[in-house]
Amino acid sequence: MHLSLSSATTLLSLSSSALAFYLPGAAPRNYARGEKIDLFVNALTPMLAGNDNAKLKSLINYDYYNPRFHFCQPEGGPQKQPESLGSILFGDRIFDSPYDIRMLENNGTCQTLCTVDVPPEDAKFINDRIIEDYALNWLVDGLPAAEMKMDTRNGDMFFDMGFNLGNDNDNDNDEEPFDTPALNNHYEIVLRYHRFSEGVYRVVGVLVWPYSIGGPQDGVPTCETDEDKIKSLVLDEKTTQSIRYTYRVTWNESATPWATRWDNYLHIFDPRIHWFSLINSVVIVIFLCAMVGLILYRSVSRDISRYNAIDVSEDVQEDWGWKLVHGEVFRTPKNPMLLAVMAGNGSQLCAMVAITLIFALLGFLSPSNRGSLATVMMVCWSFFGGVGGYISSRLYSSLGGTSKRKNSFFTATILPTSIFAVVFILNFLLIMAGSSGAVPFGTLLLIILMWFGISAPLSAVGAYYGTKHGVSGPHHFYTHFPHSTLQAVRHPVRVNQIPRQIPPSPKYIRPWTAALLGGILPFGAAFVELYFIMSSLFASRAYYAFGFIALTVGVMALTTATVSILFTYFMLCAEEYRWHWRSFLIGGGNAFWLLAYGLFYWVSRLSLDSFSSVGLYLGYLFILTLLDFLATGTIGFLASYWAVRKLYSAIRID
Ligand SMILES: *[C@@H]1O[C@H](CO)[C@@H](O)[C@H](O)[C@H]1NC(C)=O
Ligand SMILES: *[C@@H]1O[C@H](CO)[C@@H](O)[C@H](O)[C@H]1NC(C)=O
Repeated sequence: MHLSLSSATTLLSLSSSALAFYLPGAAPRNYARGEKIDLFVNALTPMLAGNDNAKLKSLINYDYYNPRFHFCQPEGGPQKQPESLGSILFGDRIFDSPYDIRMLENNGTCQTLCTVDVPPEDAKFINDRIIEDYALNWLVDGLPAAEMKMDTRNGDMFFDMGFNLGNDNDNDNDEEPFDTPALNNHYEIVLRYHRFSEGVYRVVGVLVWPYSIGGPQDGVPTCETDEDKIKSLVLDEKTTQSIRYTYRVTWNESATPWATRWDNYLHIFDPRIHWFSLINSVVIVIFLCAMVGLILYRSVSRDISRYNAIDVSEDVQEDWGWKLVHGEVFRTPKNPMLLAVMAGNGSQLCAMVAITLIFALLGFLSPSNRGSLATVMMVCWSFFGGVGGYISSRLYSSLGGTSKRKNSFFTATILPTSIFAVVFILNFLLIMAGSSGAVPFGTLLLIILMWFGISAPLSAVGAYYGTKHGVSGPHHFYTHFPHSTLQAVRHPVRVNQIPRQIPPSPKYIRPWTAALLGGILPFGAAFVELYFIMSSLFASRAYYAFGFIALTVGVMALTTATVSILFTYFMLCAEEYRWHWRSFLIGGGNAFWLLAYGLFYWVSRLSLDSFSSVGLYLGYLFILTLLDFLATGTIGFLASYWAVRKLYSAIRID
């Protein structure tokens, strides 16, 4: 049982090499004995200290070569390494380094990197970063340097990416309590290699144990790491101090082949949680779909047969329930423009998520292509501009809107502009905080170019076709109800001239109550995976369980659609016919829960002290919530739209 569970977990998480195939950029790199292996350095990131109730203390990344850290630089200054768009957006800033590593050479030799002088004010800066649990992120042959840790739940060893800049006594699980922050200035680097064939070697694991070695910083280095013999290096915040950086490389042969070298990194903490979550969501969805199916099937078919059984010639014309509002359901809602624009953008997002997940499931987004997830998302989003434009304008003309150009313009501009505005503010915060996380100008330009060059034109093309289909599209209702007004052409029932009175409706179908109620189920279905996604977004934990994510997203979409249809049906039965906006709100209702959860996560899992970190978190949370609202709201609205059309085309109107 356990075996099959864990292999299924591997299957779903796609960390299995059998399923993951690699893009050309990530082809194996062979090294001969003595060949130089580059060690690249990435930005410093705040890390979650090992224990379970540790809190993240900052969200701000710093360049490795930020002058205040005084890390050793290569001769002639650090060179920036090429990166993908997604990798830049997710905060990677990769440079070369002066470490001299050659395949299988200098095994166990203590080497000095350089000696630097740290002035008092920078010592303070470094100490603060140590207290905030910052971690160094190195890359060797595309693999992140990691610390080996044990999963306390099942005793599995795994590689935790990044290693500490220093130690402080805050770190409860550390054996040695330090009174003051101590800087790590010695690195024990263990490189695991795999002998592919005679004289051909590959790097399959990078482990680093950092040490703080105090005492005199000159003379012949010993690289002594025995904790009884060394005292730690505490930075003096009063005088300028010399620090010597040393390292030692150890080569260990490993049986791990190149293809599975990432498995150790993609450790899934307690896979049972994911299974419980998945089973939980599947049960929710089955229960819900069955219930909705049953309710709708029984009452709707009963309603329809009763409606249609009433003879036209009978004097007693008893109408009740949703049939009463047949003259109202297709009345143009308030603000059809905004509704269409939101639904258009939402469909664009849904299409992006769907295709990205398909790519991920096919194994294209393996972690060896750094940033590929974000890159694929950006590219998909640009190309699905067409989908957004099409849906938006088709909806808009079906809803009876007339300013079609305005609609297509807004569809292509409103959402990107608002997100850009938020990103600009966040960028400003990051620059103020001296962080390297700010999106560089060139990248911003590239994104604007993708937007103007790909997304906007495609959106316009989509809008053109959408308008055409919206007006004269082949609907099967079309011929049955040949009325003269625009509405009657495209809807199964005609809209009355004079709006009906709406009777007071029960509490649970009032807009906000319904949205909050309706949002609970989809949110509940996604809740556990959300926790993992949040910690991978904010605490830079690798999370590649795309199988779980895809299933969860699928379940969530289904739940959203069903819940919206159900509430819309209740609304119509209560003779409340303003369902357009409400179904959008009910579909997007889980975003309110997401927002609440994000705030809860902030309180319970983060202890951010700087203004910029808080701003950053809230900014990201806002964007996340907004996108979630648009995507799920669209699902809810379109599902309800479909259901309403089905419903009213099934009855006979006299
Ligand atoms: C390097 O040294 C370690 C012990 O210090 C040893 O276990 C390992 O086999 C050596 N590797 C090579 C390639 O000689
Ligand atoms: C390297 O290999 C040696 C001998 O096999 C072993 O004692 C040592 O623990 C290994 N080091 C690491 C870091 O895996």
